[in-house]
Amino acid sequence: MMEKLRLDKIISATGKKSRREIKQLIKEGRILVDGRPASAPEEKYDPETTEILLDGRDLGYRRHTYVLLHKPAGLLSATEDAQSPTVLSLLPPDMQKLFPVGRLDKDTEGLLLLTDDGELAHRLLSPKNHVDKIYYARVEGELNEEDCKAFAEGMVLGDGLVCMPAELEILSPQEAQVTLREGKFHQVKRMLAARGKKVTYLKRLSMGPLALEDSLPRGAFRLLTKEEEEMLQTL
Ligand code: URA
Repeated sequence: MMEKLRLDKIISATGKKSRREIKQLIKEGRILVDGRPASAPEEKYDPETTEILLDGRDLGYRRHTYVLLHKPAGLLSATEDAQSPTVLSLLPPDMQKLFPVGRLDKDTEGLLLLTDDGELAHRLLSPKNHVDKIYYARVEGELNEEDCKAFAEGMVLGDGLVCMPAELEILSPQEAQVTLREGKFHQVKRMLAARGKKVTYLKRLSMGPLALEDSLPRGAFRLLTKEEEEMLQTL
């Protein structure tokens, strides 16, 4: 059995209604809890065993929230920072408890997963699990086959950082797709810098089964689909 949660918390976790809307819906008698109209947002229920309907329809409660954000440059992948705005500034008030799964550099764009599911975050980040992360990079200098070989063999950087074998696919002399199975600090930039190539632009395209779609604008987010959630849970 799960702990009891406030009714408005349970409903807002579905991402479909805000707390304020929920209050109004309860007043209007449109929320049914186990067949009876709910009377207050503060009432507590076990969401796993309670039937909660809005206008007769199941809300599809999720115990955890999973958000796929198209991170723009200029925001920190953190929950708070004294100097710079964080990625949480792009999320609504009822999602401020989420945290990013791993980090993208301030100037890196692209796919960032945020959740309140610590267990899943831990599994996704564990180097043991080898979750592929794919990046698009633009560089100064000319990429060549030697660079690809060095990535494939695994690199030891000047400062001693050992990088597992990775994939560098050249798209044009200044552009590449990089696939990593780990996520060390500044890893793409450092691996390319070790090959004499300075990264001028970096974007994460995917992480395991999650991919950033072209239709999701920079700065926008969406909830994961049930299918995506299930794929993550079985990793
Ligand atoms: N590698 C980097 O260098 N930066 C990122 O933000 C992600 C991977």
